[in-house]
Amino acid sequence: MSDSTAEVCILDPALEKVKPTAIVIFGATGDLTHRKIVPAFYHLMKNGRLPDGCVIIGFARRPKSDVEFRAELREAVGQFSHTKPINEAAWNKLAARMYYHQGDLETPADYASLEAKLRTLPESKSYQRNYLFYLATAPTYFGAIAENLSKAGLAPDENSSDVRRLIVEKPFGENLSSARALNKNMHRFFPENTIYRIDHYLGKETVQNLMYFRFGNSIYEPLWNRRYIDHVQITVAERVGVEARGGYYDGAGASRDMLQNHLLQLLTTIAMEPPASLEAESIHDEKVKVLKSIPILSPEKTLQRSARAQYGAGDFDGKSYVAYRSEPKVSPTSLTETYVALKLEVDNWRWSGVPFYLRTGKSLTKQFTEINIVFNRPPSVLFAAVAGAQLRRNCLRMRIQPNEGIHLNFNAKVPGRSQIQLVDMDFRYREDFGSYLPEAYETLMVDALAGESTLFTRHDEVEQAWKLVDSLRDAWASENLKALPTYPCGTMGPLEADDLLSKDGRYWLPVTDD
Ligand code: BG6
Repeated sequence: MSDSTAEVCILDPALEKVKPTAIVIFGATGDLTHRKIVPAFYHLMKNGRLPDGCVIIGFARRPKSDVEFRAELREAVGQFSHTKPINEAAWNKLAARMYYHQGDLETPADYASLEAKLRTLPESKSYQRNYLFYLATAPTYFGAIAENLSKAGLAPDENSSDVRRLIVEKPFGENLSSARALNKNMHRFFPENTIYRIDHYLGKETVQNLMYFRFGNSIYEPLWNRRYIDHVQITVAERVGVEARGGYYDGAGASRDMLQNHLLQLLTTIAMEPPASLEAESIHDEKVKVLKSIPILSPEKTLQRSARAQYGAGDFDGKSYVAYRSEPKVSPTSLTETYVALKLEVDNWRWSGVPFYLRTGKSLTKQFTEINIVFNRPPSVLFAAVAGAQLRRNCLRMRIQPNEGIHLNFNAKVPGRSQIQLVDMDFRYREDFGSYLPEAYETLMVDALAGESTLFTRHDEVEQAWKLVDSLRDAWASENLKALPTYPCGTMGPLEADDLLSKDGRYWLPVTDD
């Protein structure tokens, strides 16, 4: 597409499949719309990736004109865009295609008026009857929205080729039974192949690269199994606390907010078998198999293999931070974990006996996400004299964010001495591919518009992940604690998480500076 506002040229096969579409955002005045969704559309416009004929309609309860809606979002883009300064020409072009529709999520008449608006907007000649509905609301509304869309004649019709899709934000349910009920309810109006459940980690370039790395090279895959790998560590560490989201987070905790989705998706991408093809269904099939291979353990074993904690107050980087229980909208007696670590096993032919250690937490030392593949120790028969009894292990570190890259270390001779030392081989995205990495939401929006569902989660994947998280939470609940262990803000979590590995003679790899 040639476009005078385009700043970055991205070769994009998915884009070829995008038809002009009207995108309706439910929850249009919410945080997600401001922070992620509209900045993503702005970048798509700026980079020439939003086809002509696409429009955005914000649906929310408060009365507002199109002009006010656009002005509010211009401010949000100024604040949350990951590139600055804002390209005003690109923004104005996007803003001209943004409309506001006042409506209540549970009132059918407001969907009828939406339907009428969709038919009469000036761009309707180009998007015709192709609609993408983005559910950026609390999950309690998902069922009602799907039903009301259907009543207004906006759900898919098997006799028509019009695009009718739903993008659904996480959390998808709060346990297995609510996720099942939600799936069942939504499937009454929208078939599975029209539902795009977001896990934004899947849209990250570095997460997509995990498959390219594993299956696009011949040298790693033969080593990718129990014969060569000692264990795997997956860390998603956040510097920030719960910020203004205490109300939501206190009912979720790290297990529902991060483990059920992002961490388990990283795990399945690392552990899955090569799919039969790159088709979405083949990839989802393999991921589900991995999840099914993780044994659900007894509560006693689950407790032995997991650690949870809450951040306490702490001074860090010259600032004082309050404890989790003192955060706004958090119960002062809350038992919600802001940190979770656990040891999982993928009990299949490839991975039997290889532990996967996962951890995630808020208010930690720094923000980083990485996966470490730690290989078996080489035999030290030849180098015992120079390296001591044990040679250091090789480790493949896949840095998901920030400073995206891949490092492999190996033992090498120190020049001029009979000594052996670990050295690094380094790949850095920004050095090899330039500074622009699309944000996850940009990729996901284009894929949903194109009908590409690989980077979204399928209903059985979500349900299987809940099974695991439910068993963990049930085991925790059986402890009947009055308070959780704490860790000071600005540290790497509780001692219990270190014990989890030290019991096995292992340790969390140190946090690096890059
Ligand atoms: C979201 C969680 O899904 O992911 C947040 O709800 C978390 O609590 C965020 O902060 C982390 O995403 P990222 O892309 O910043 O690592």
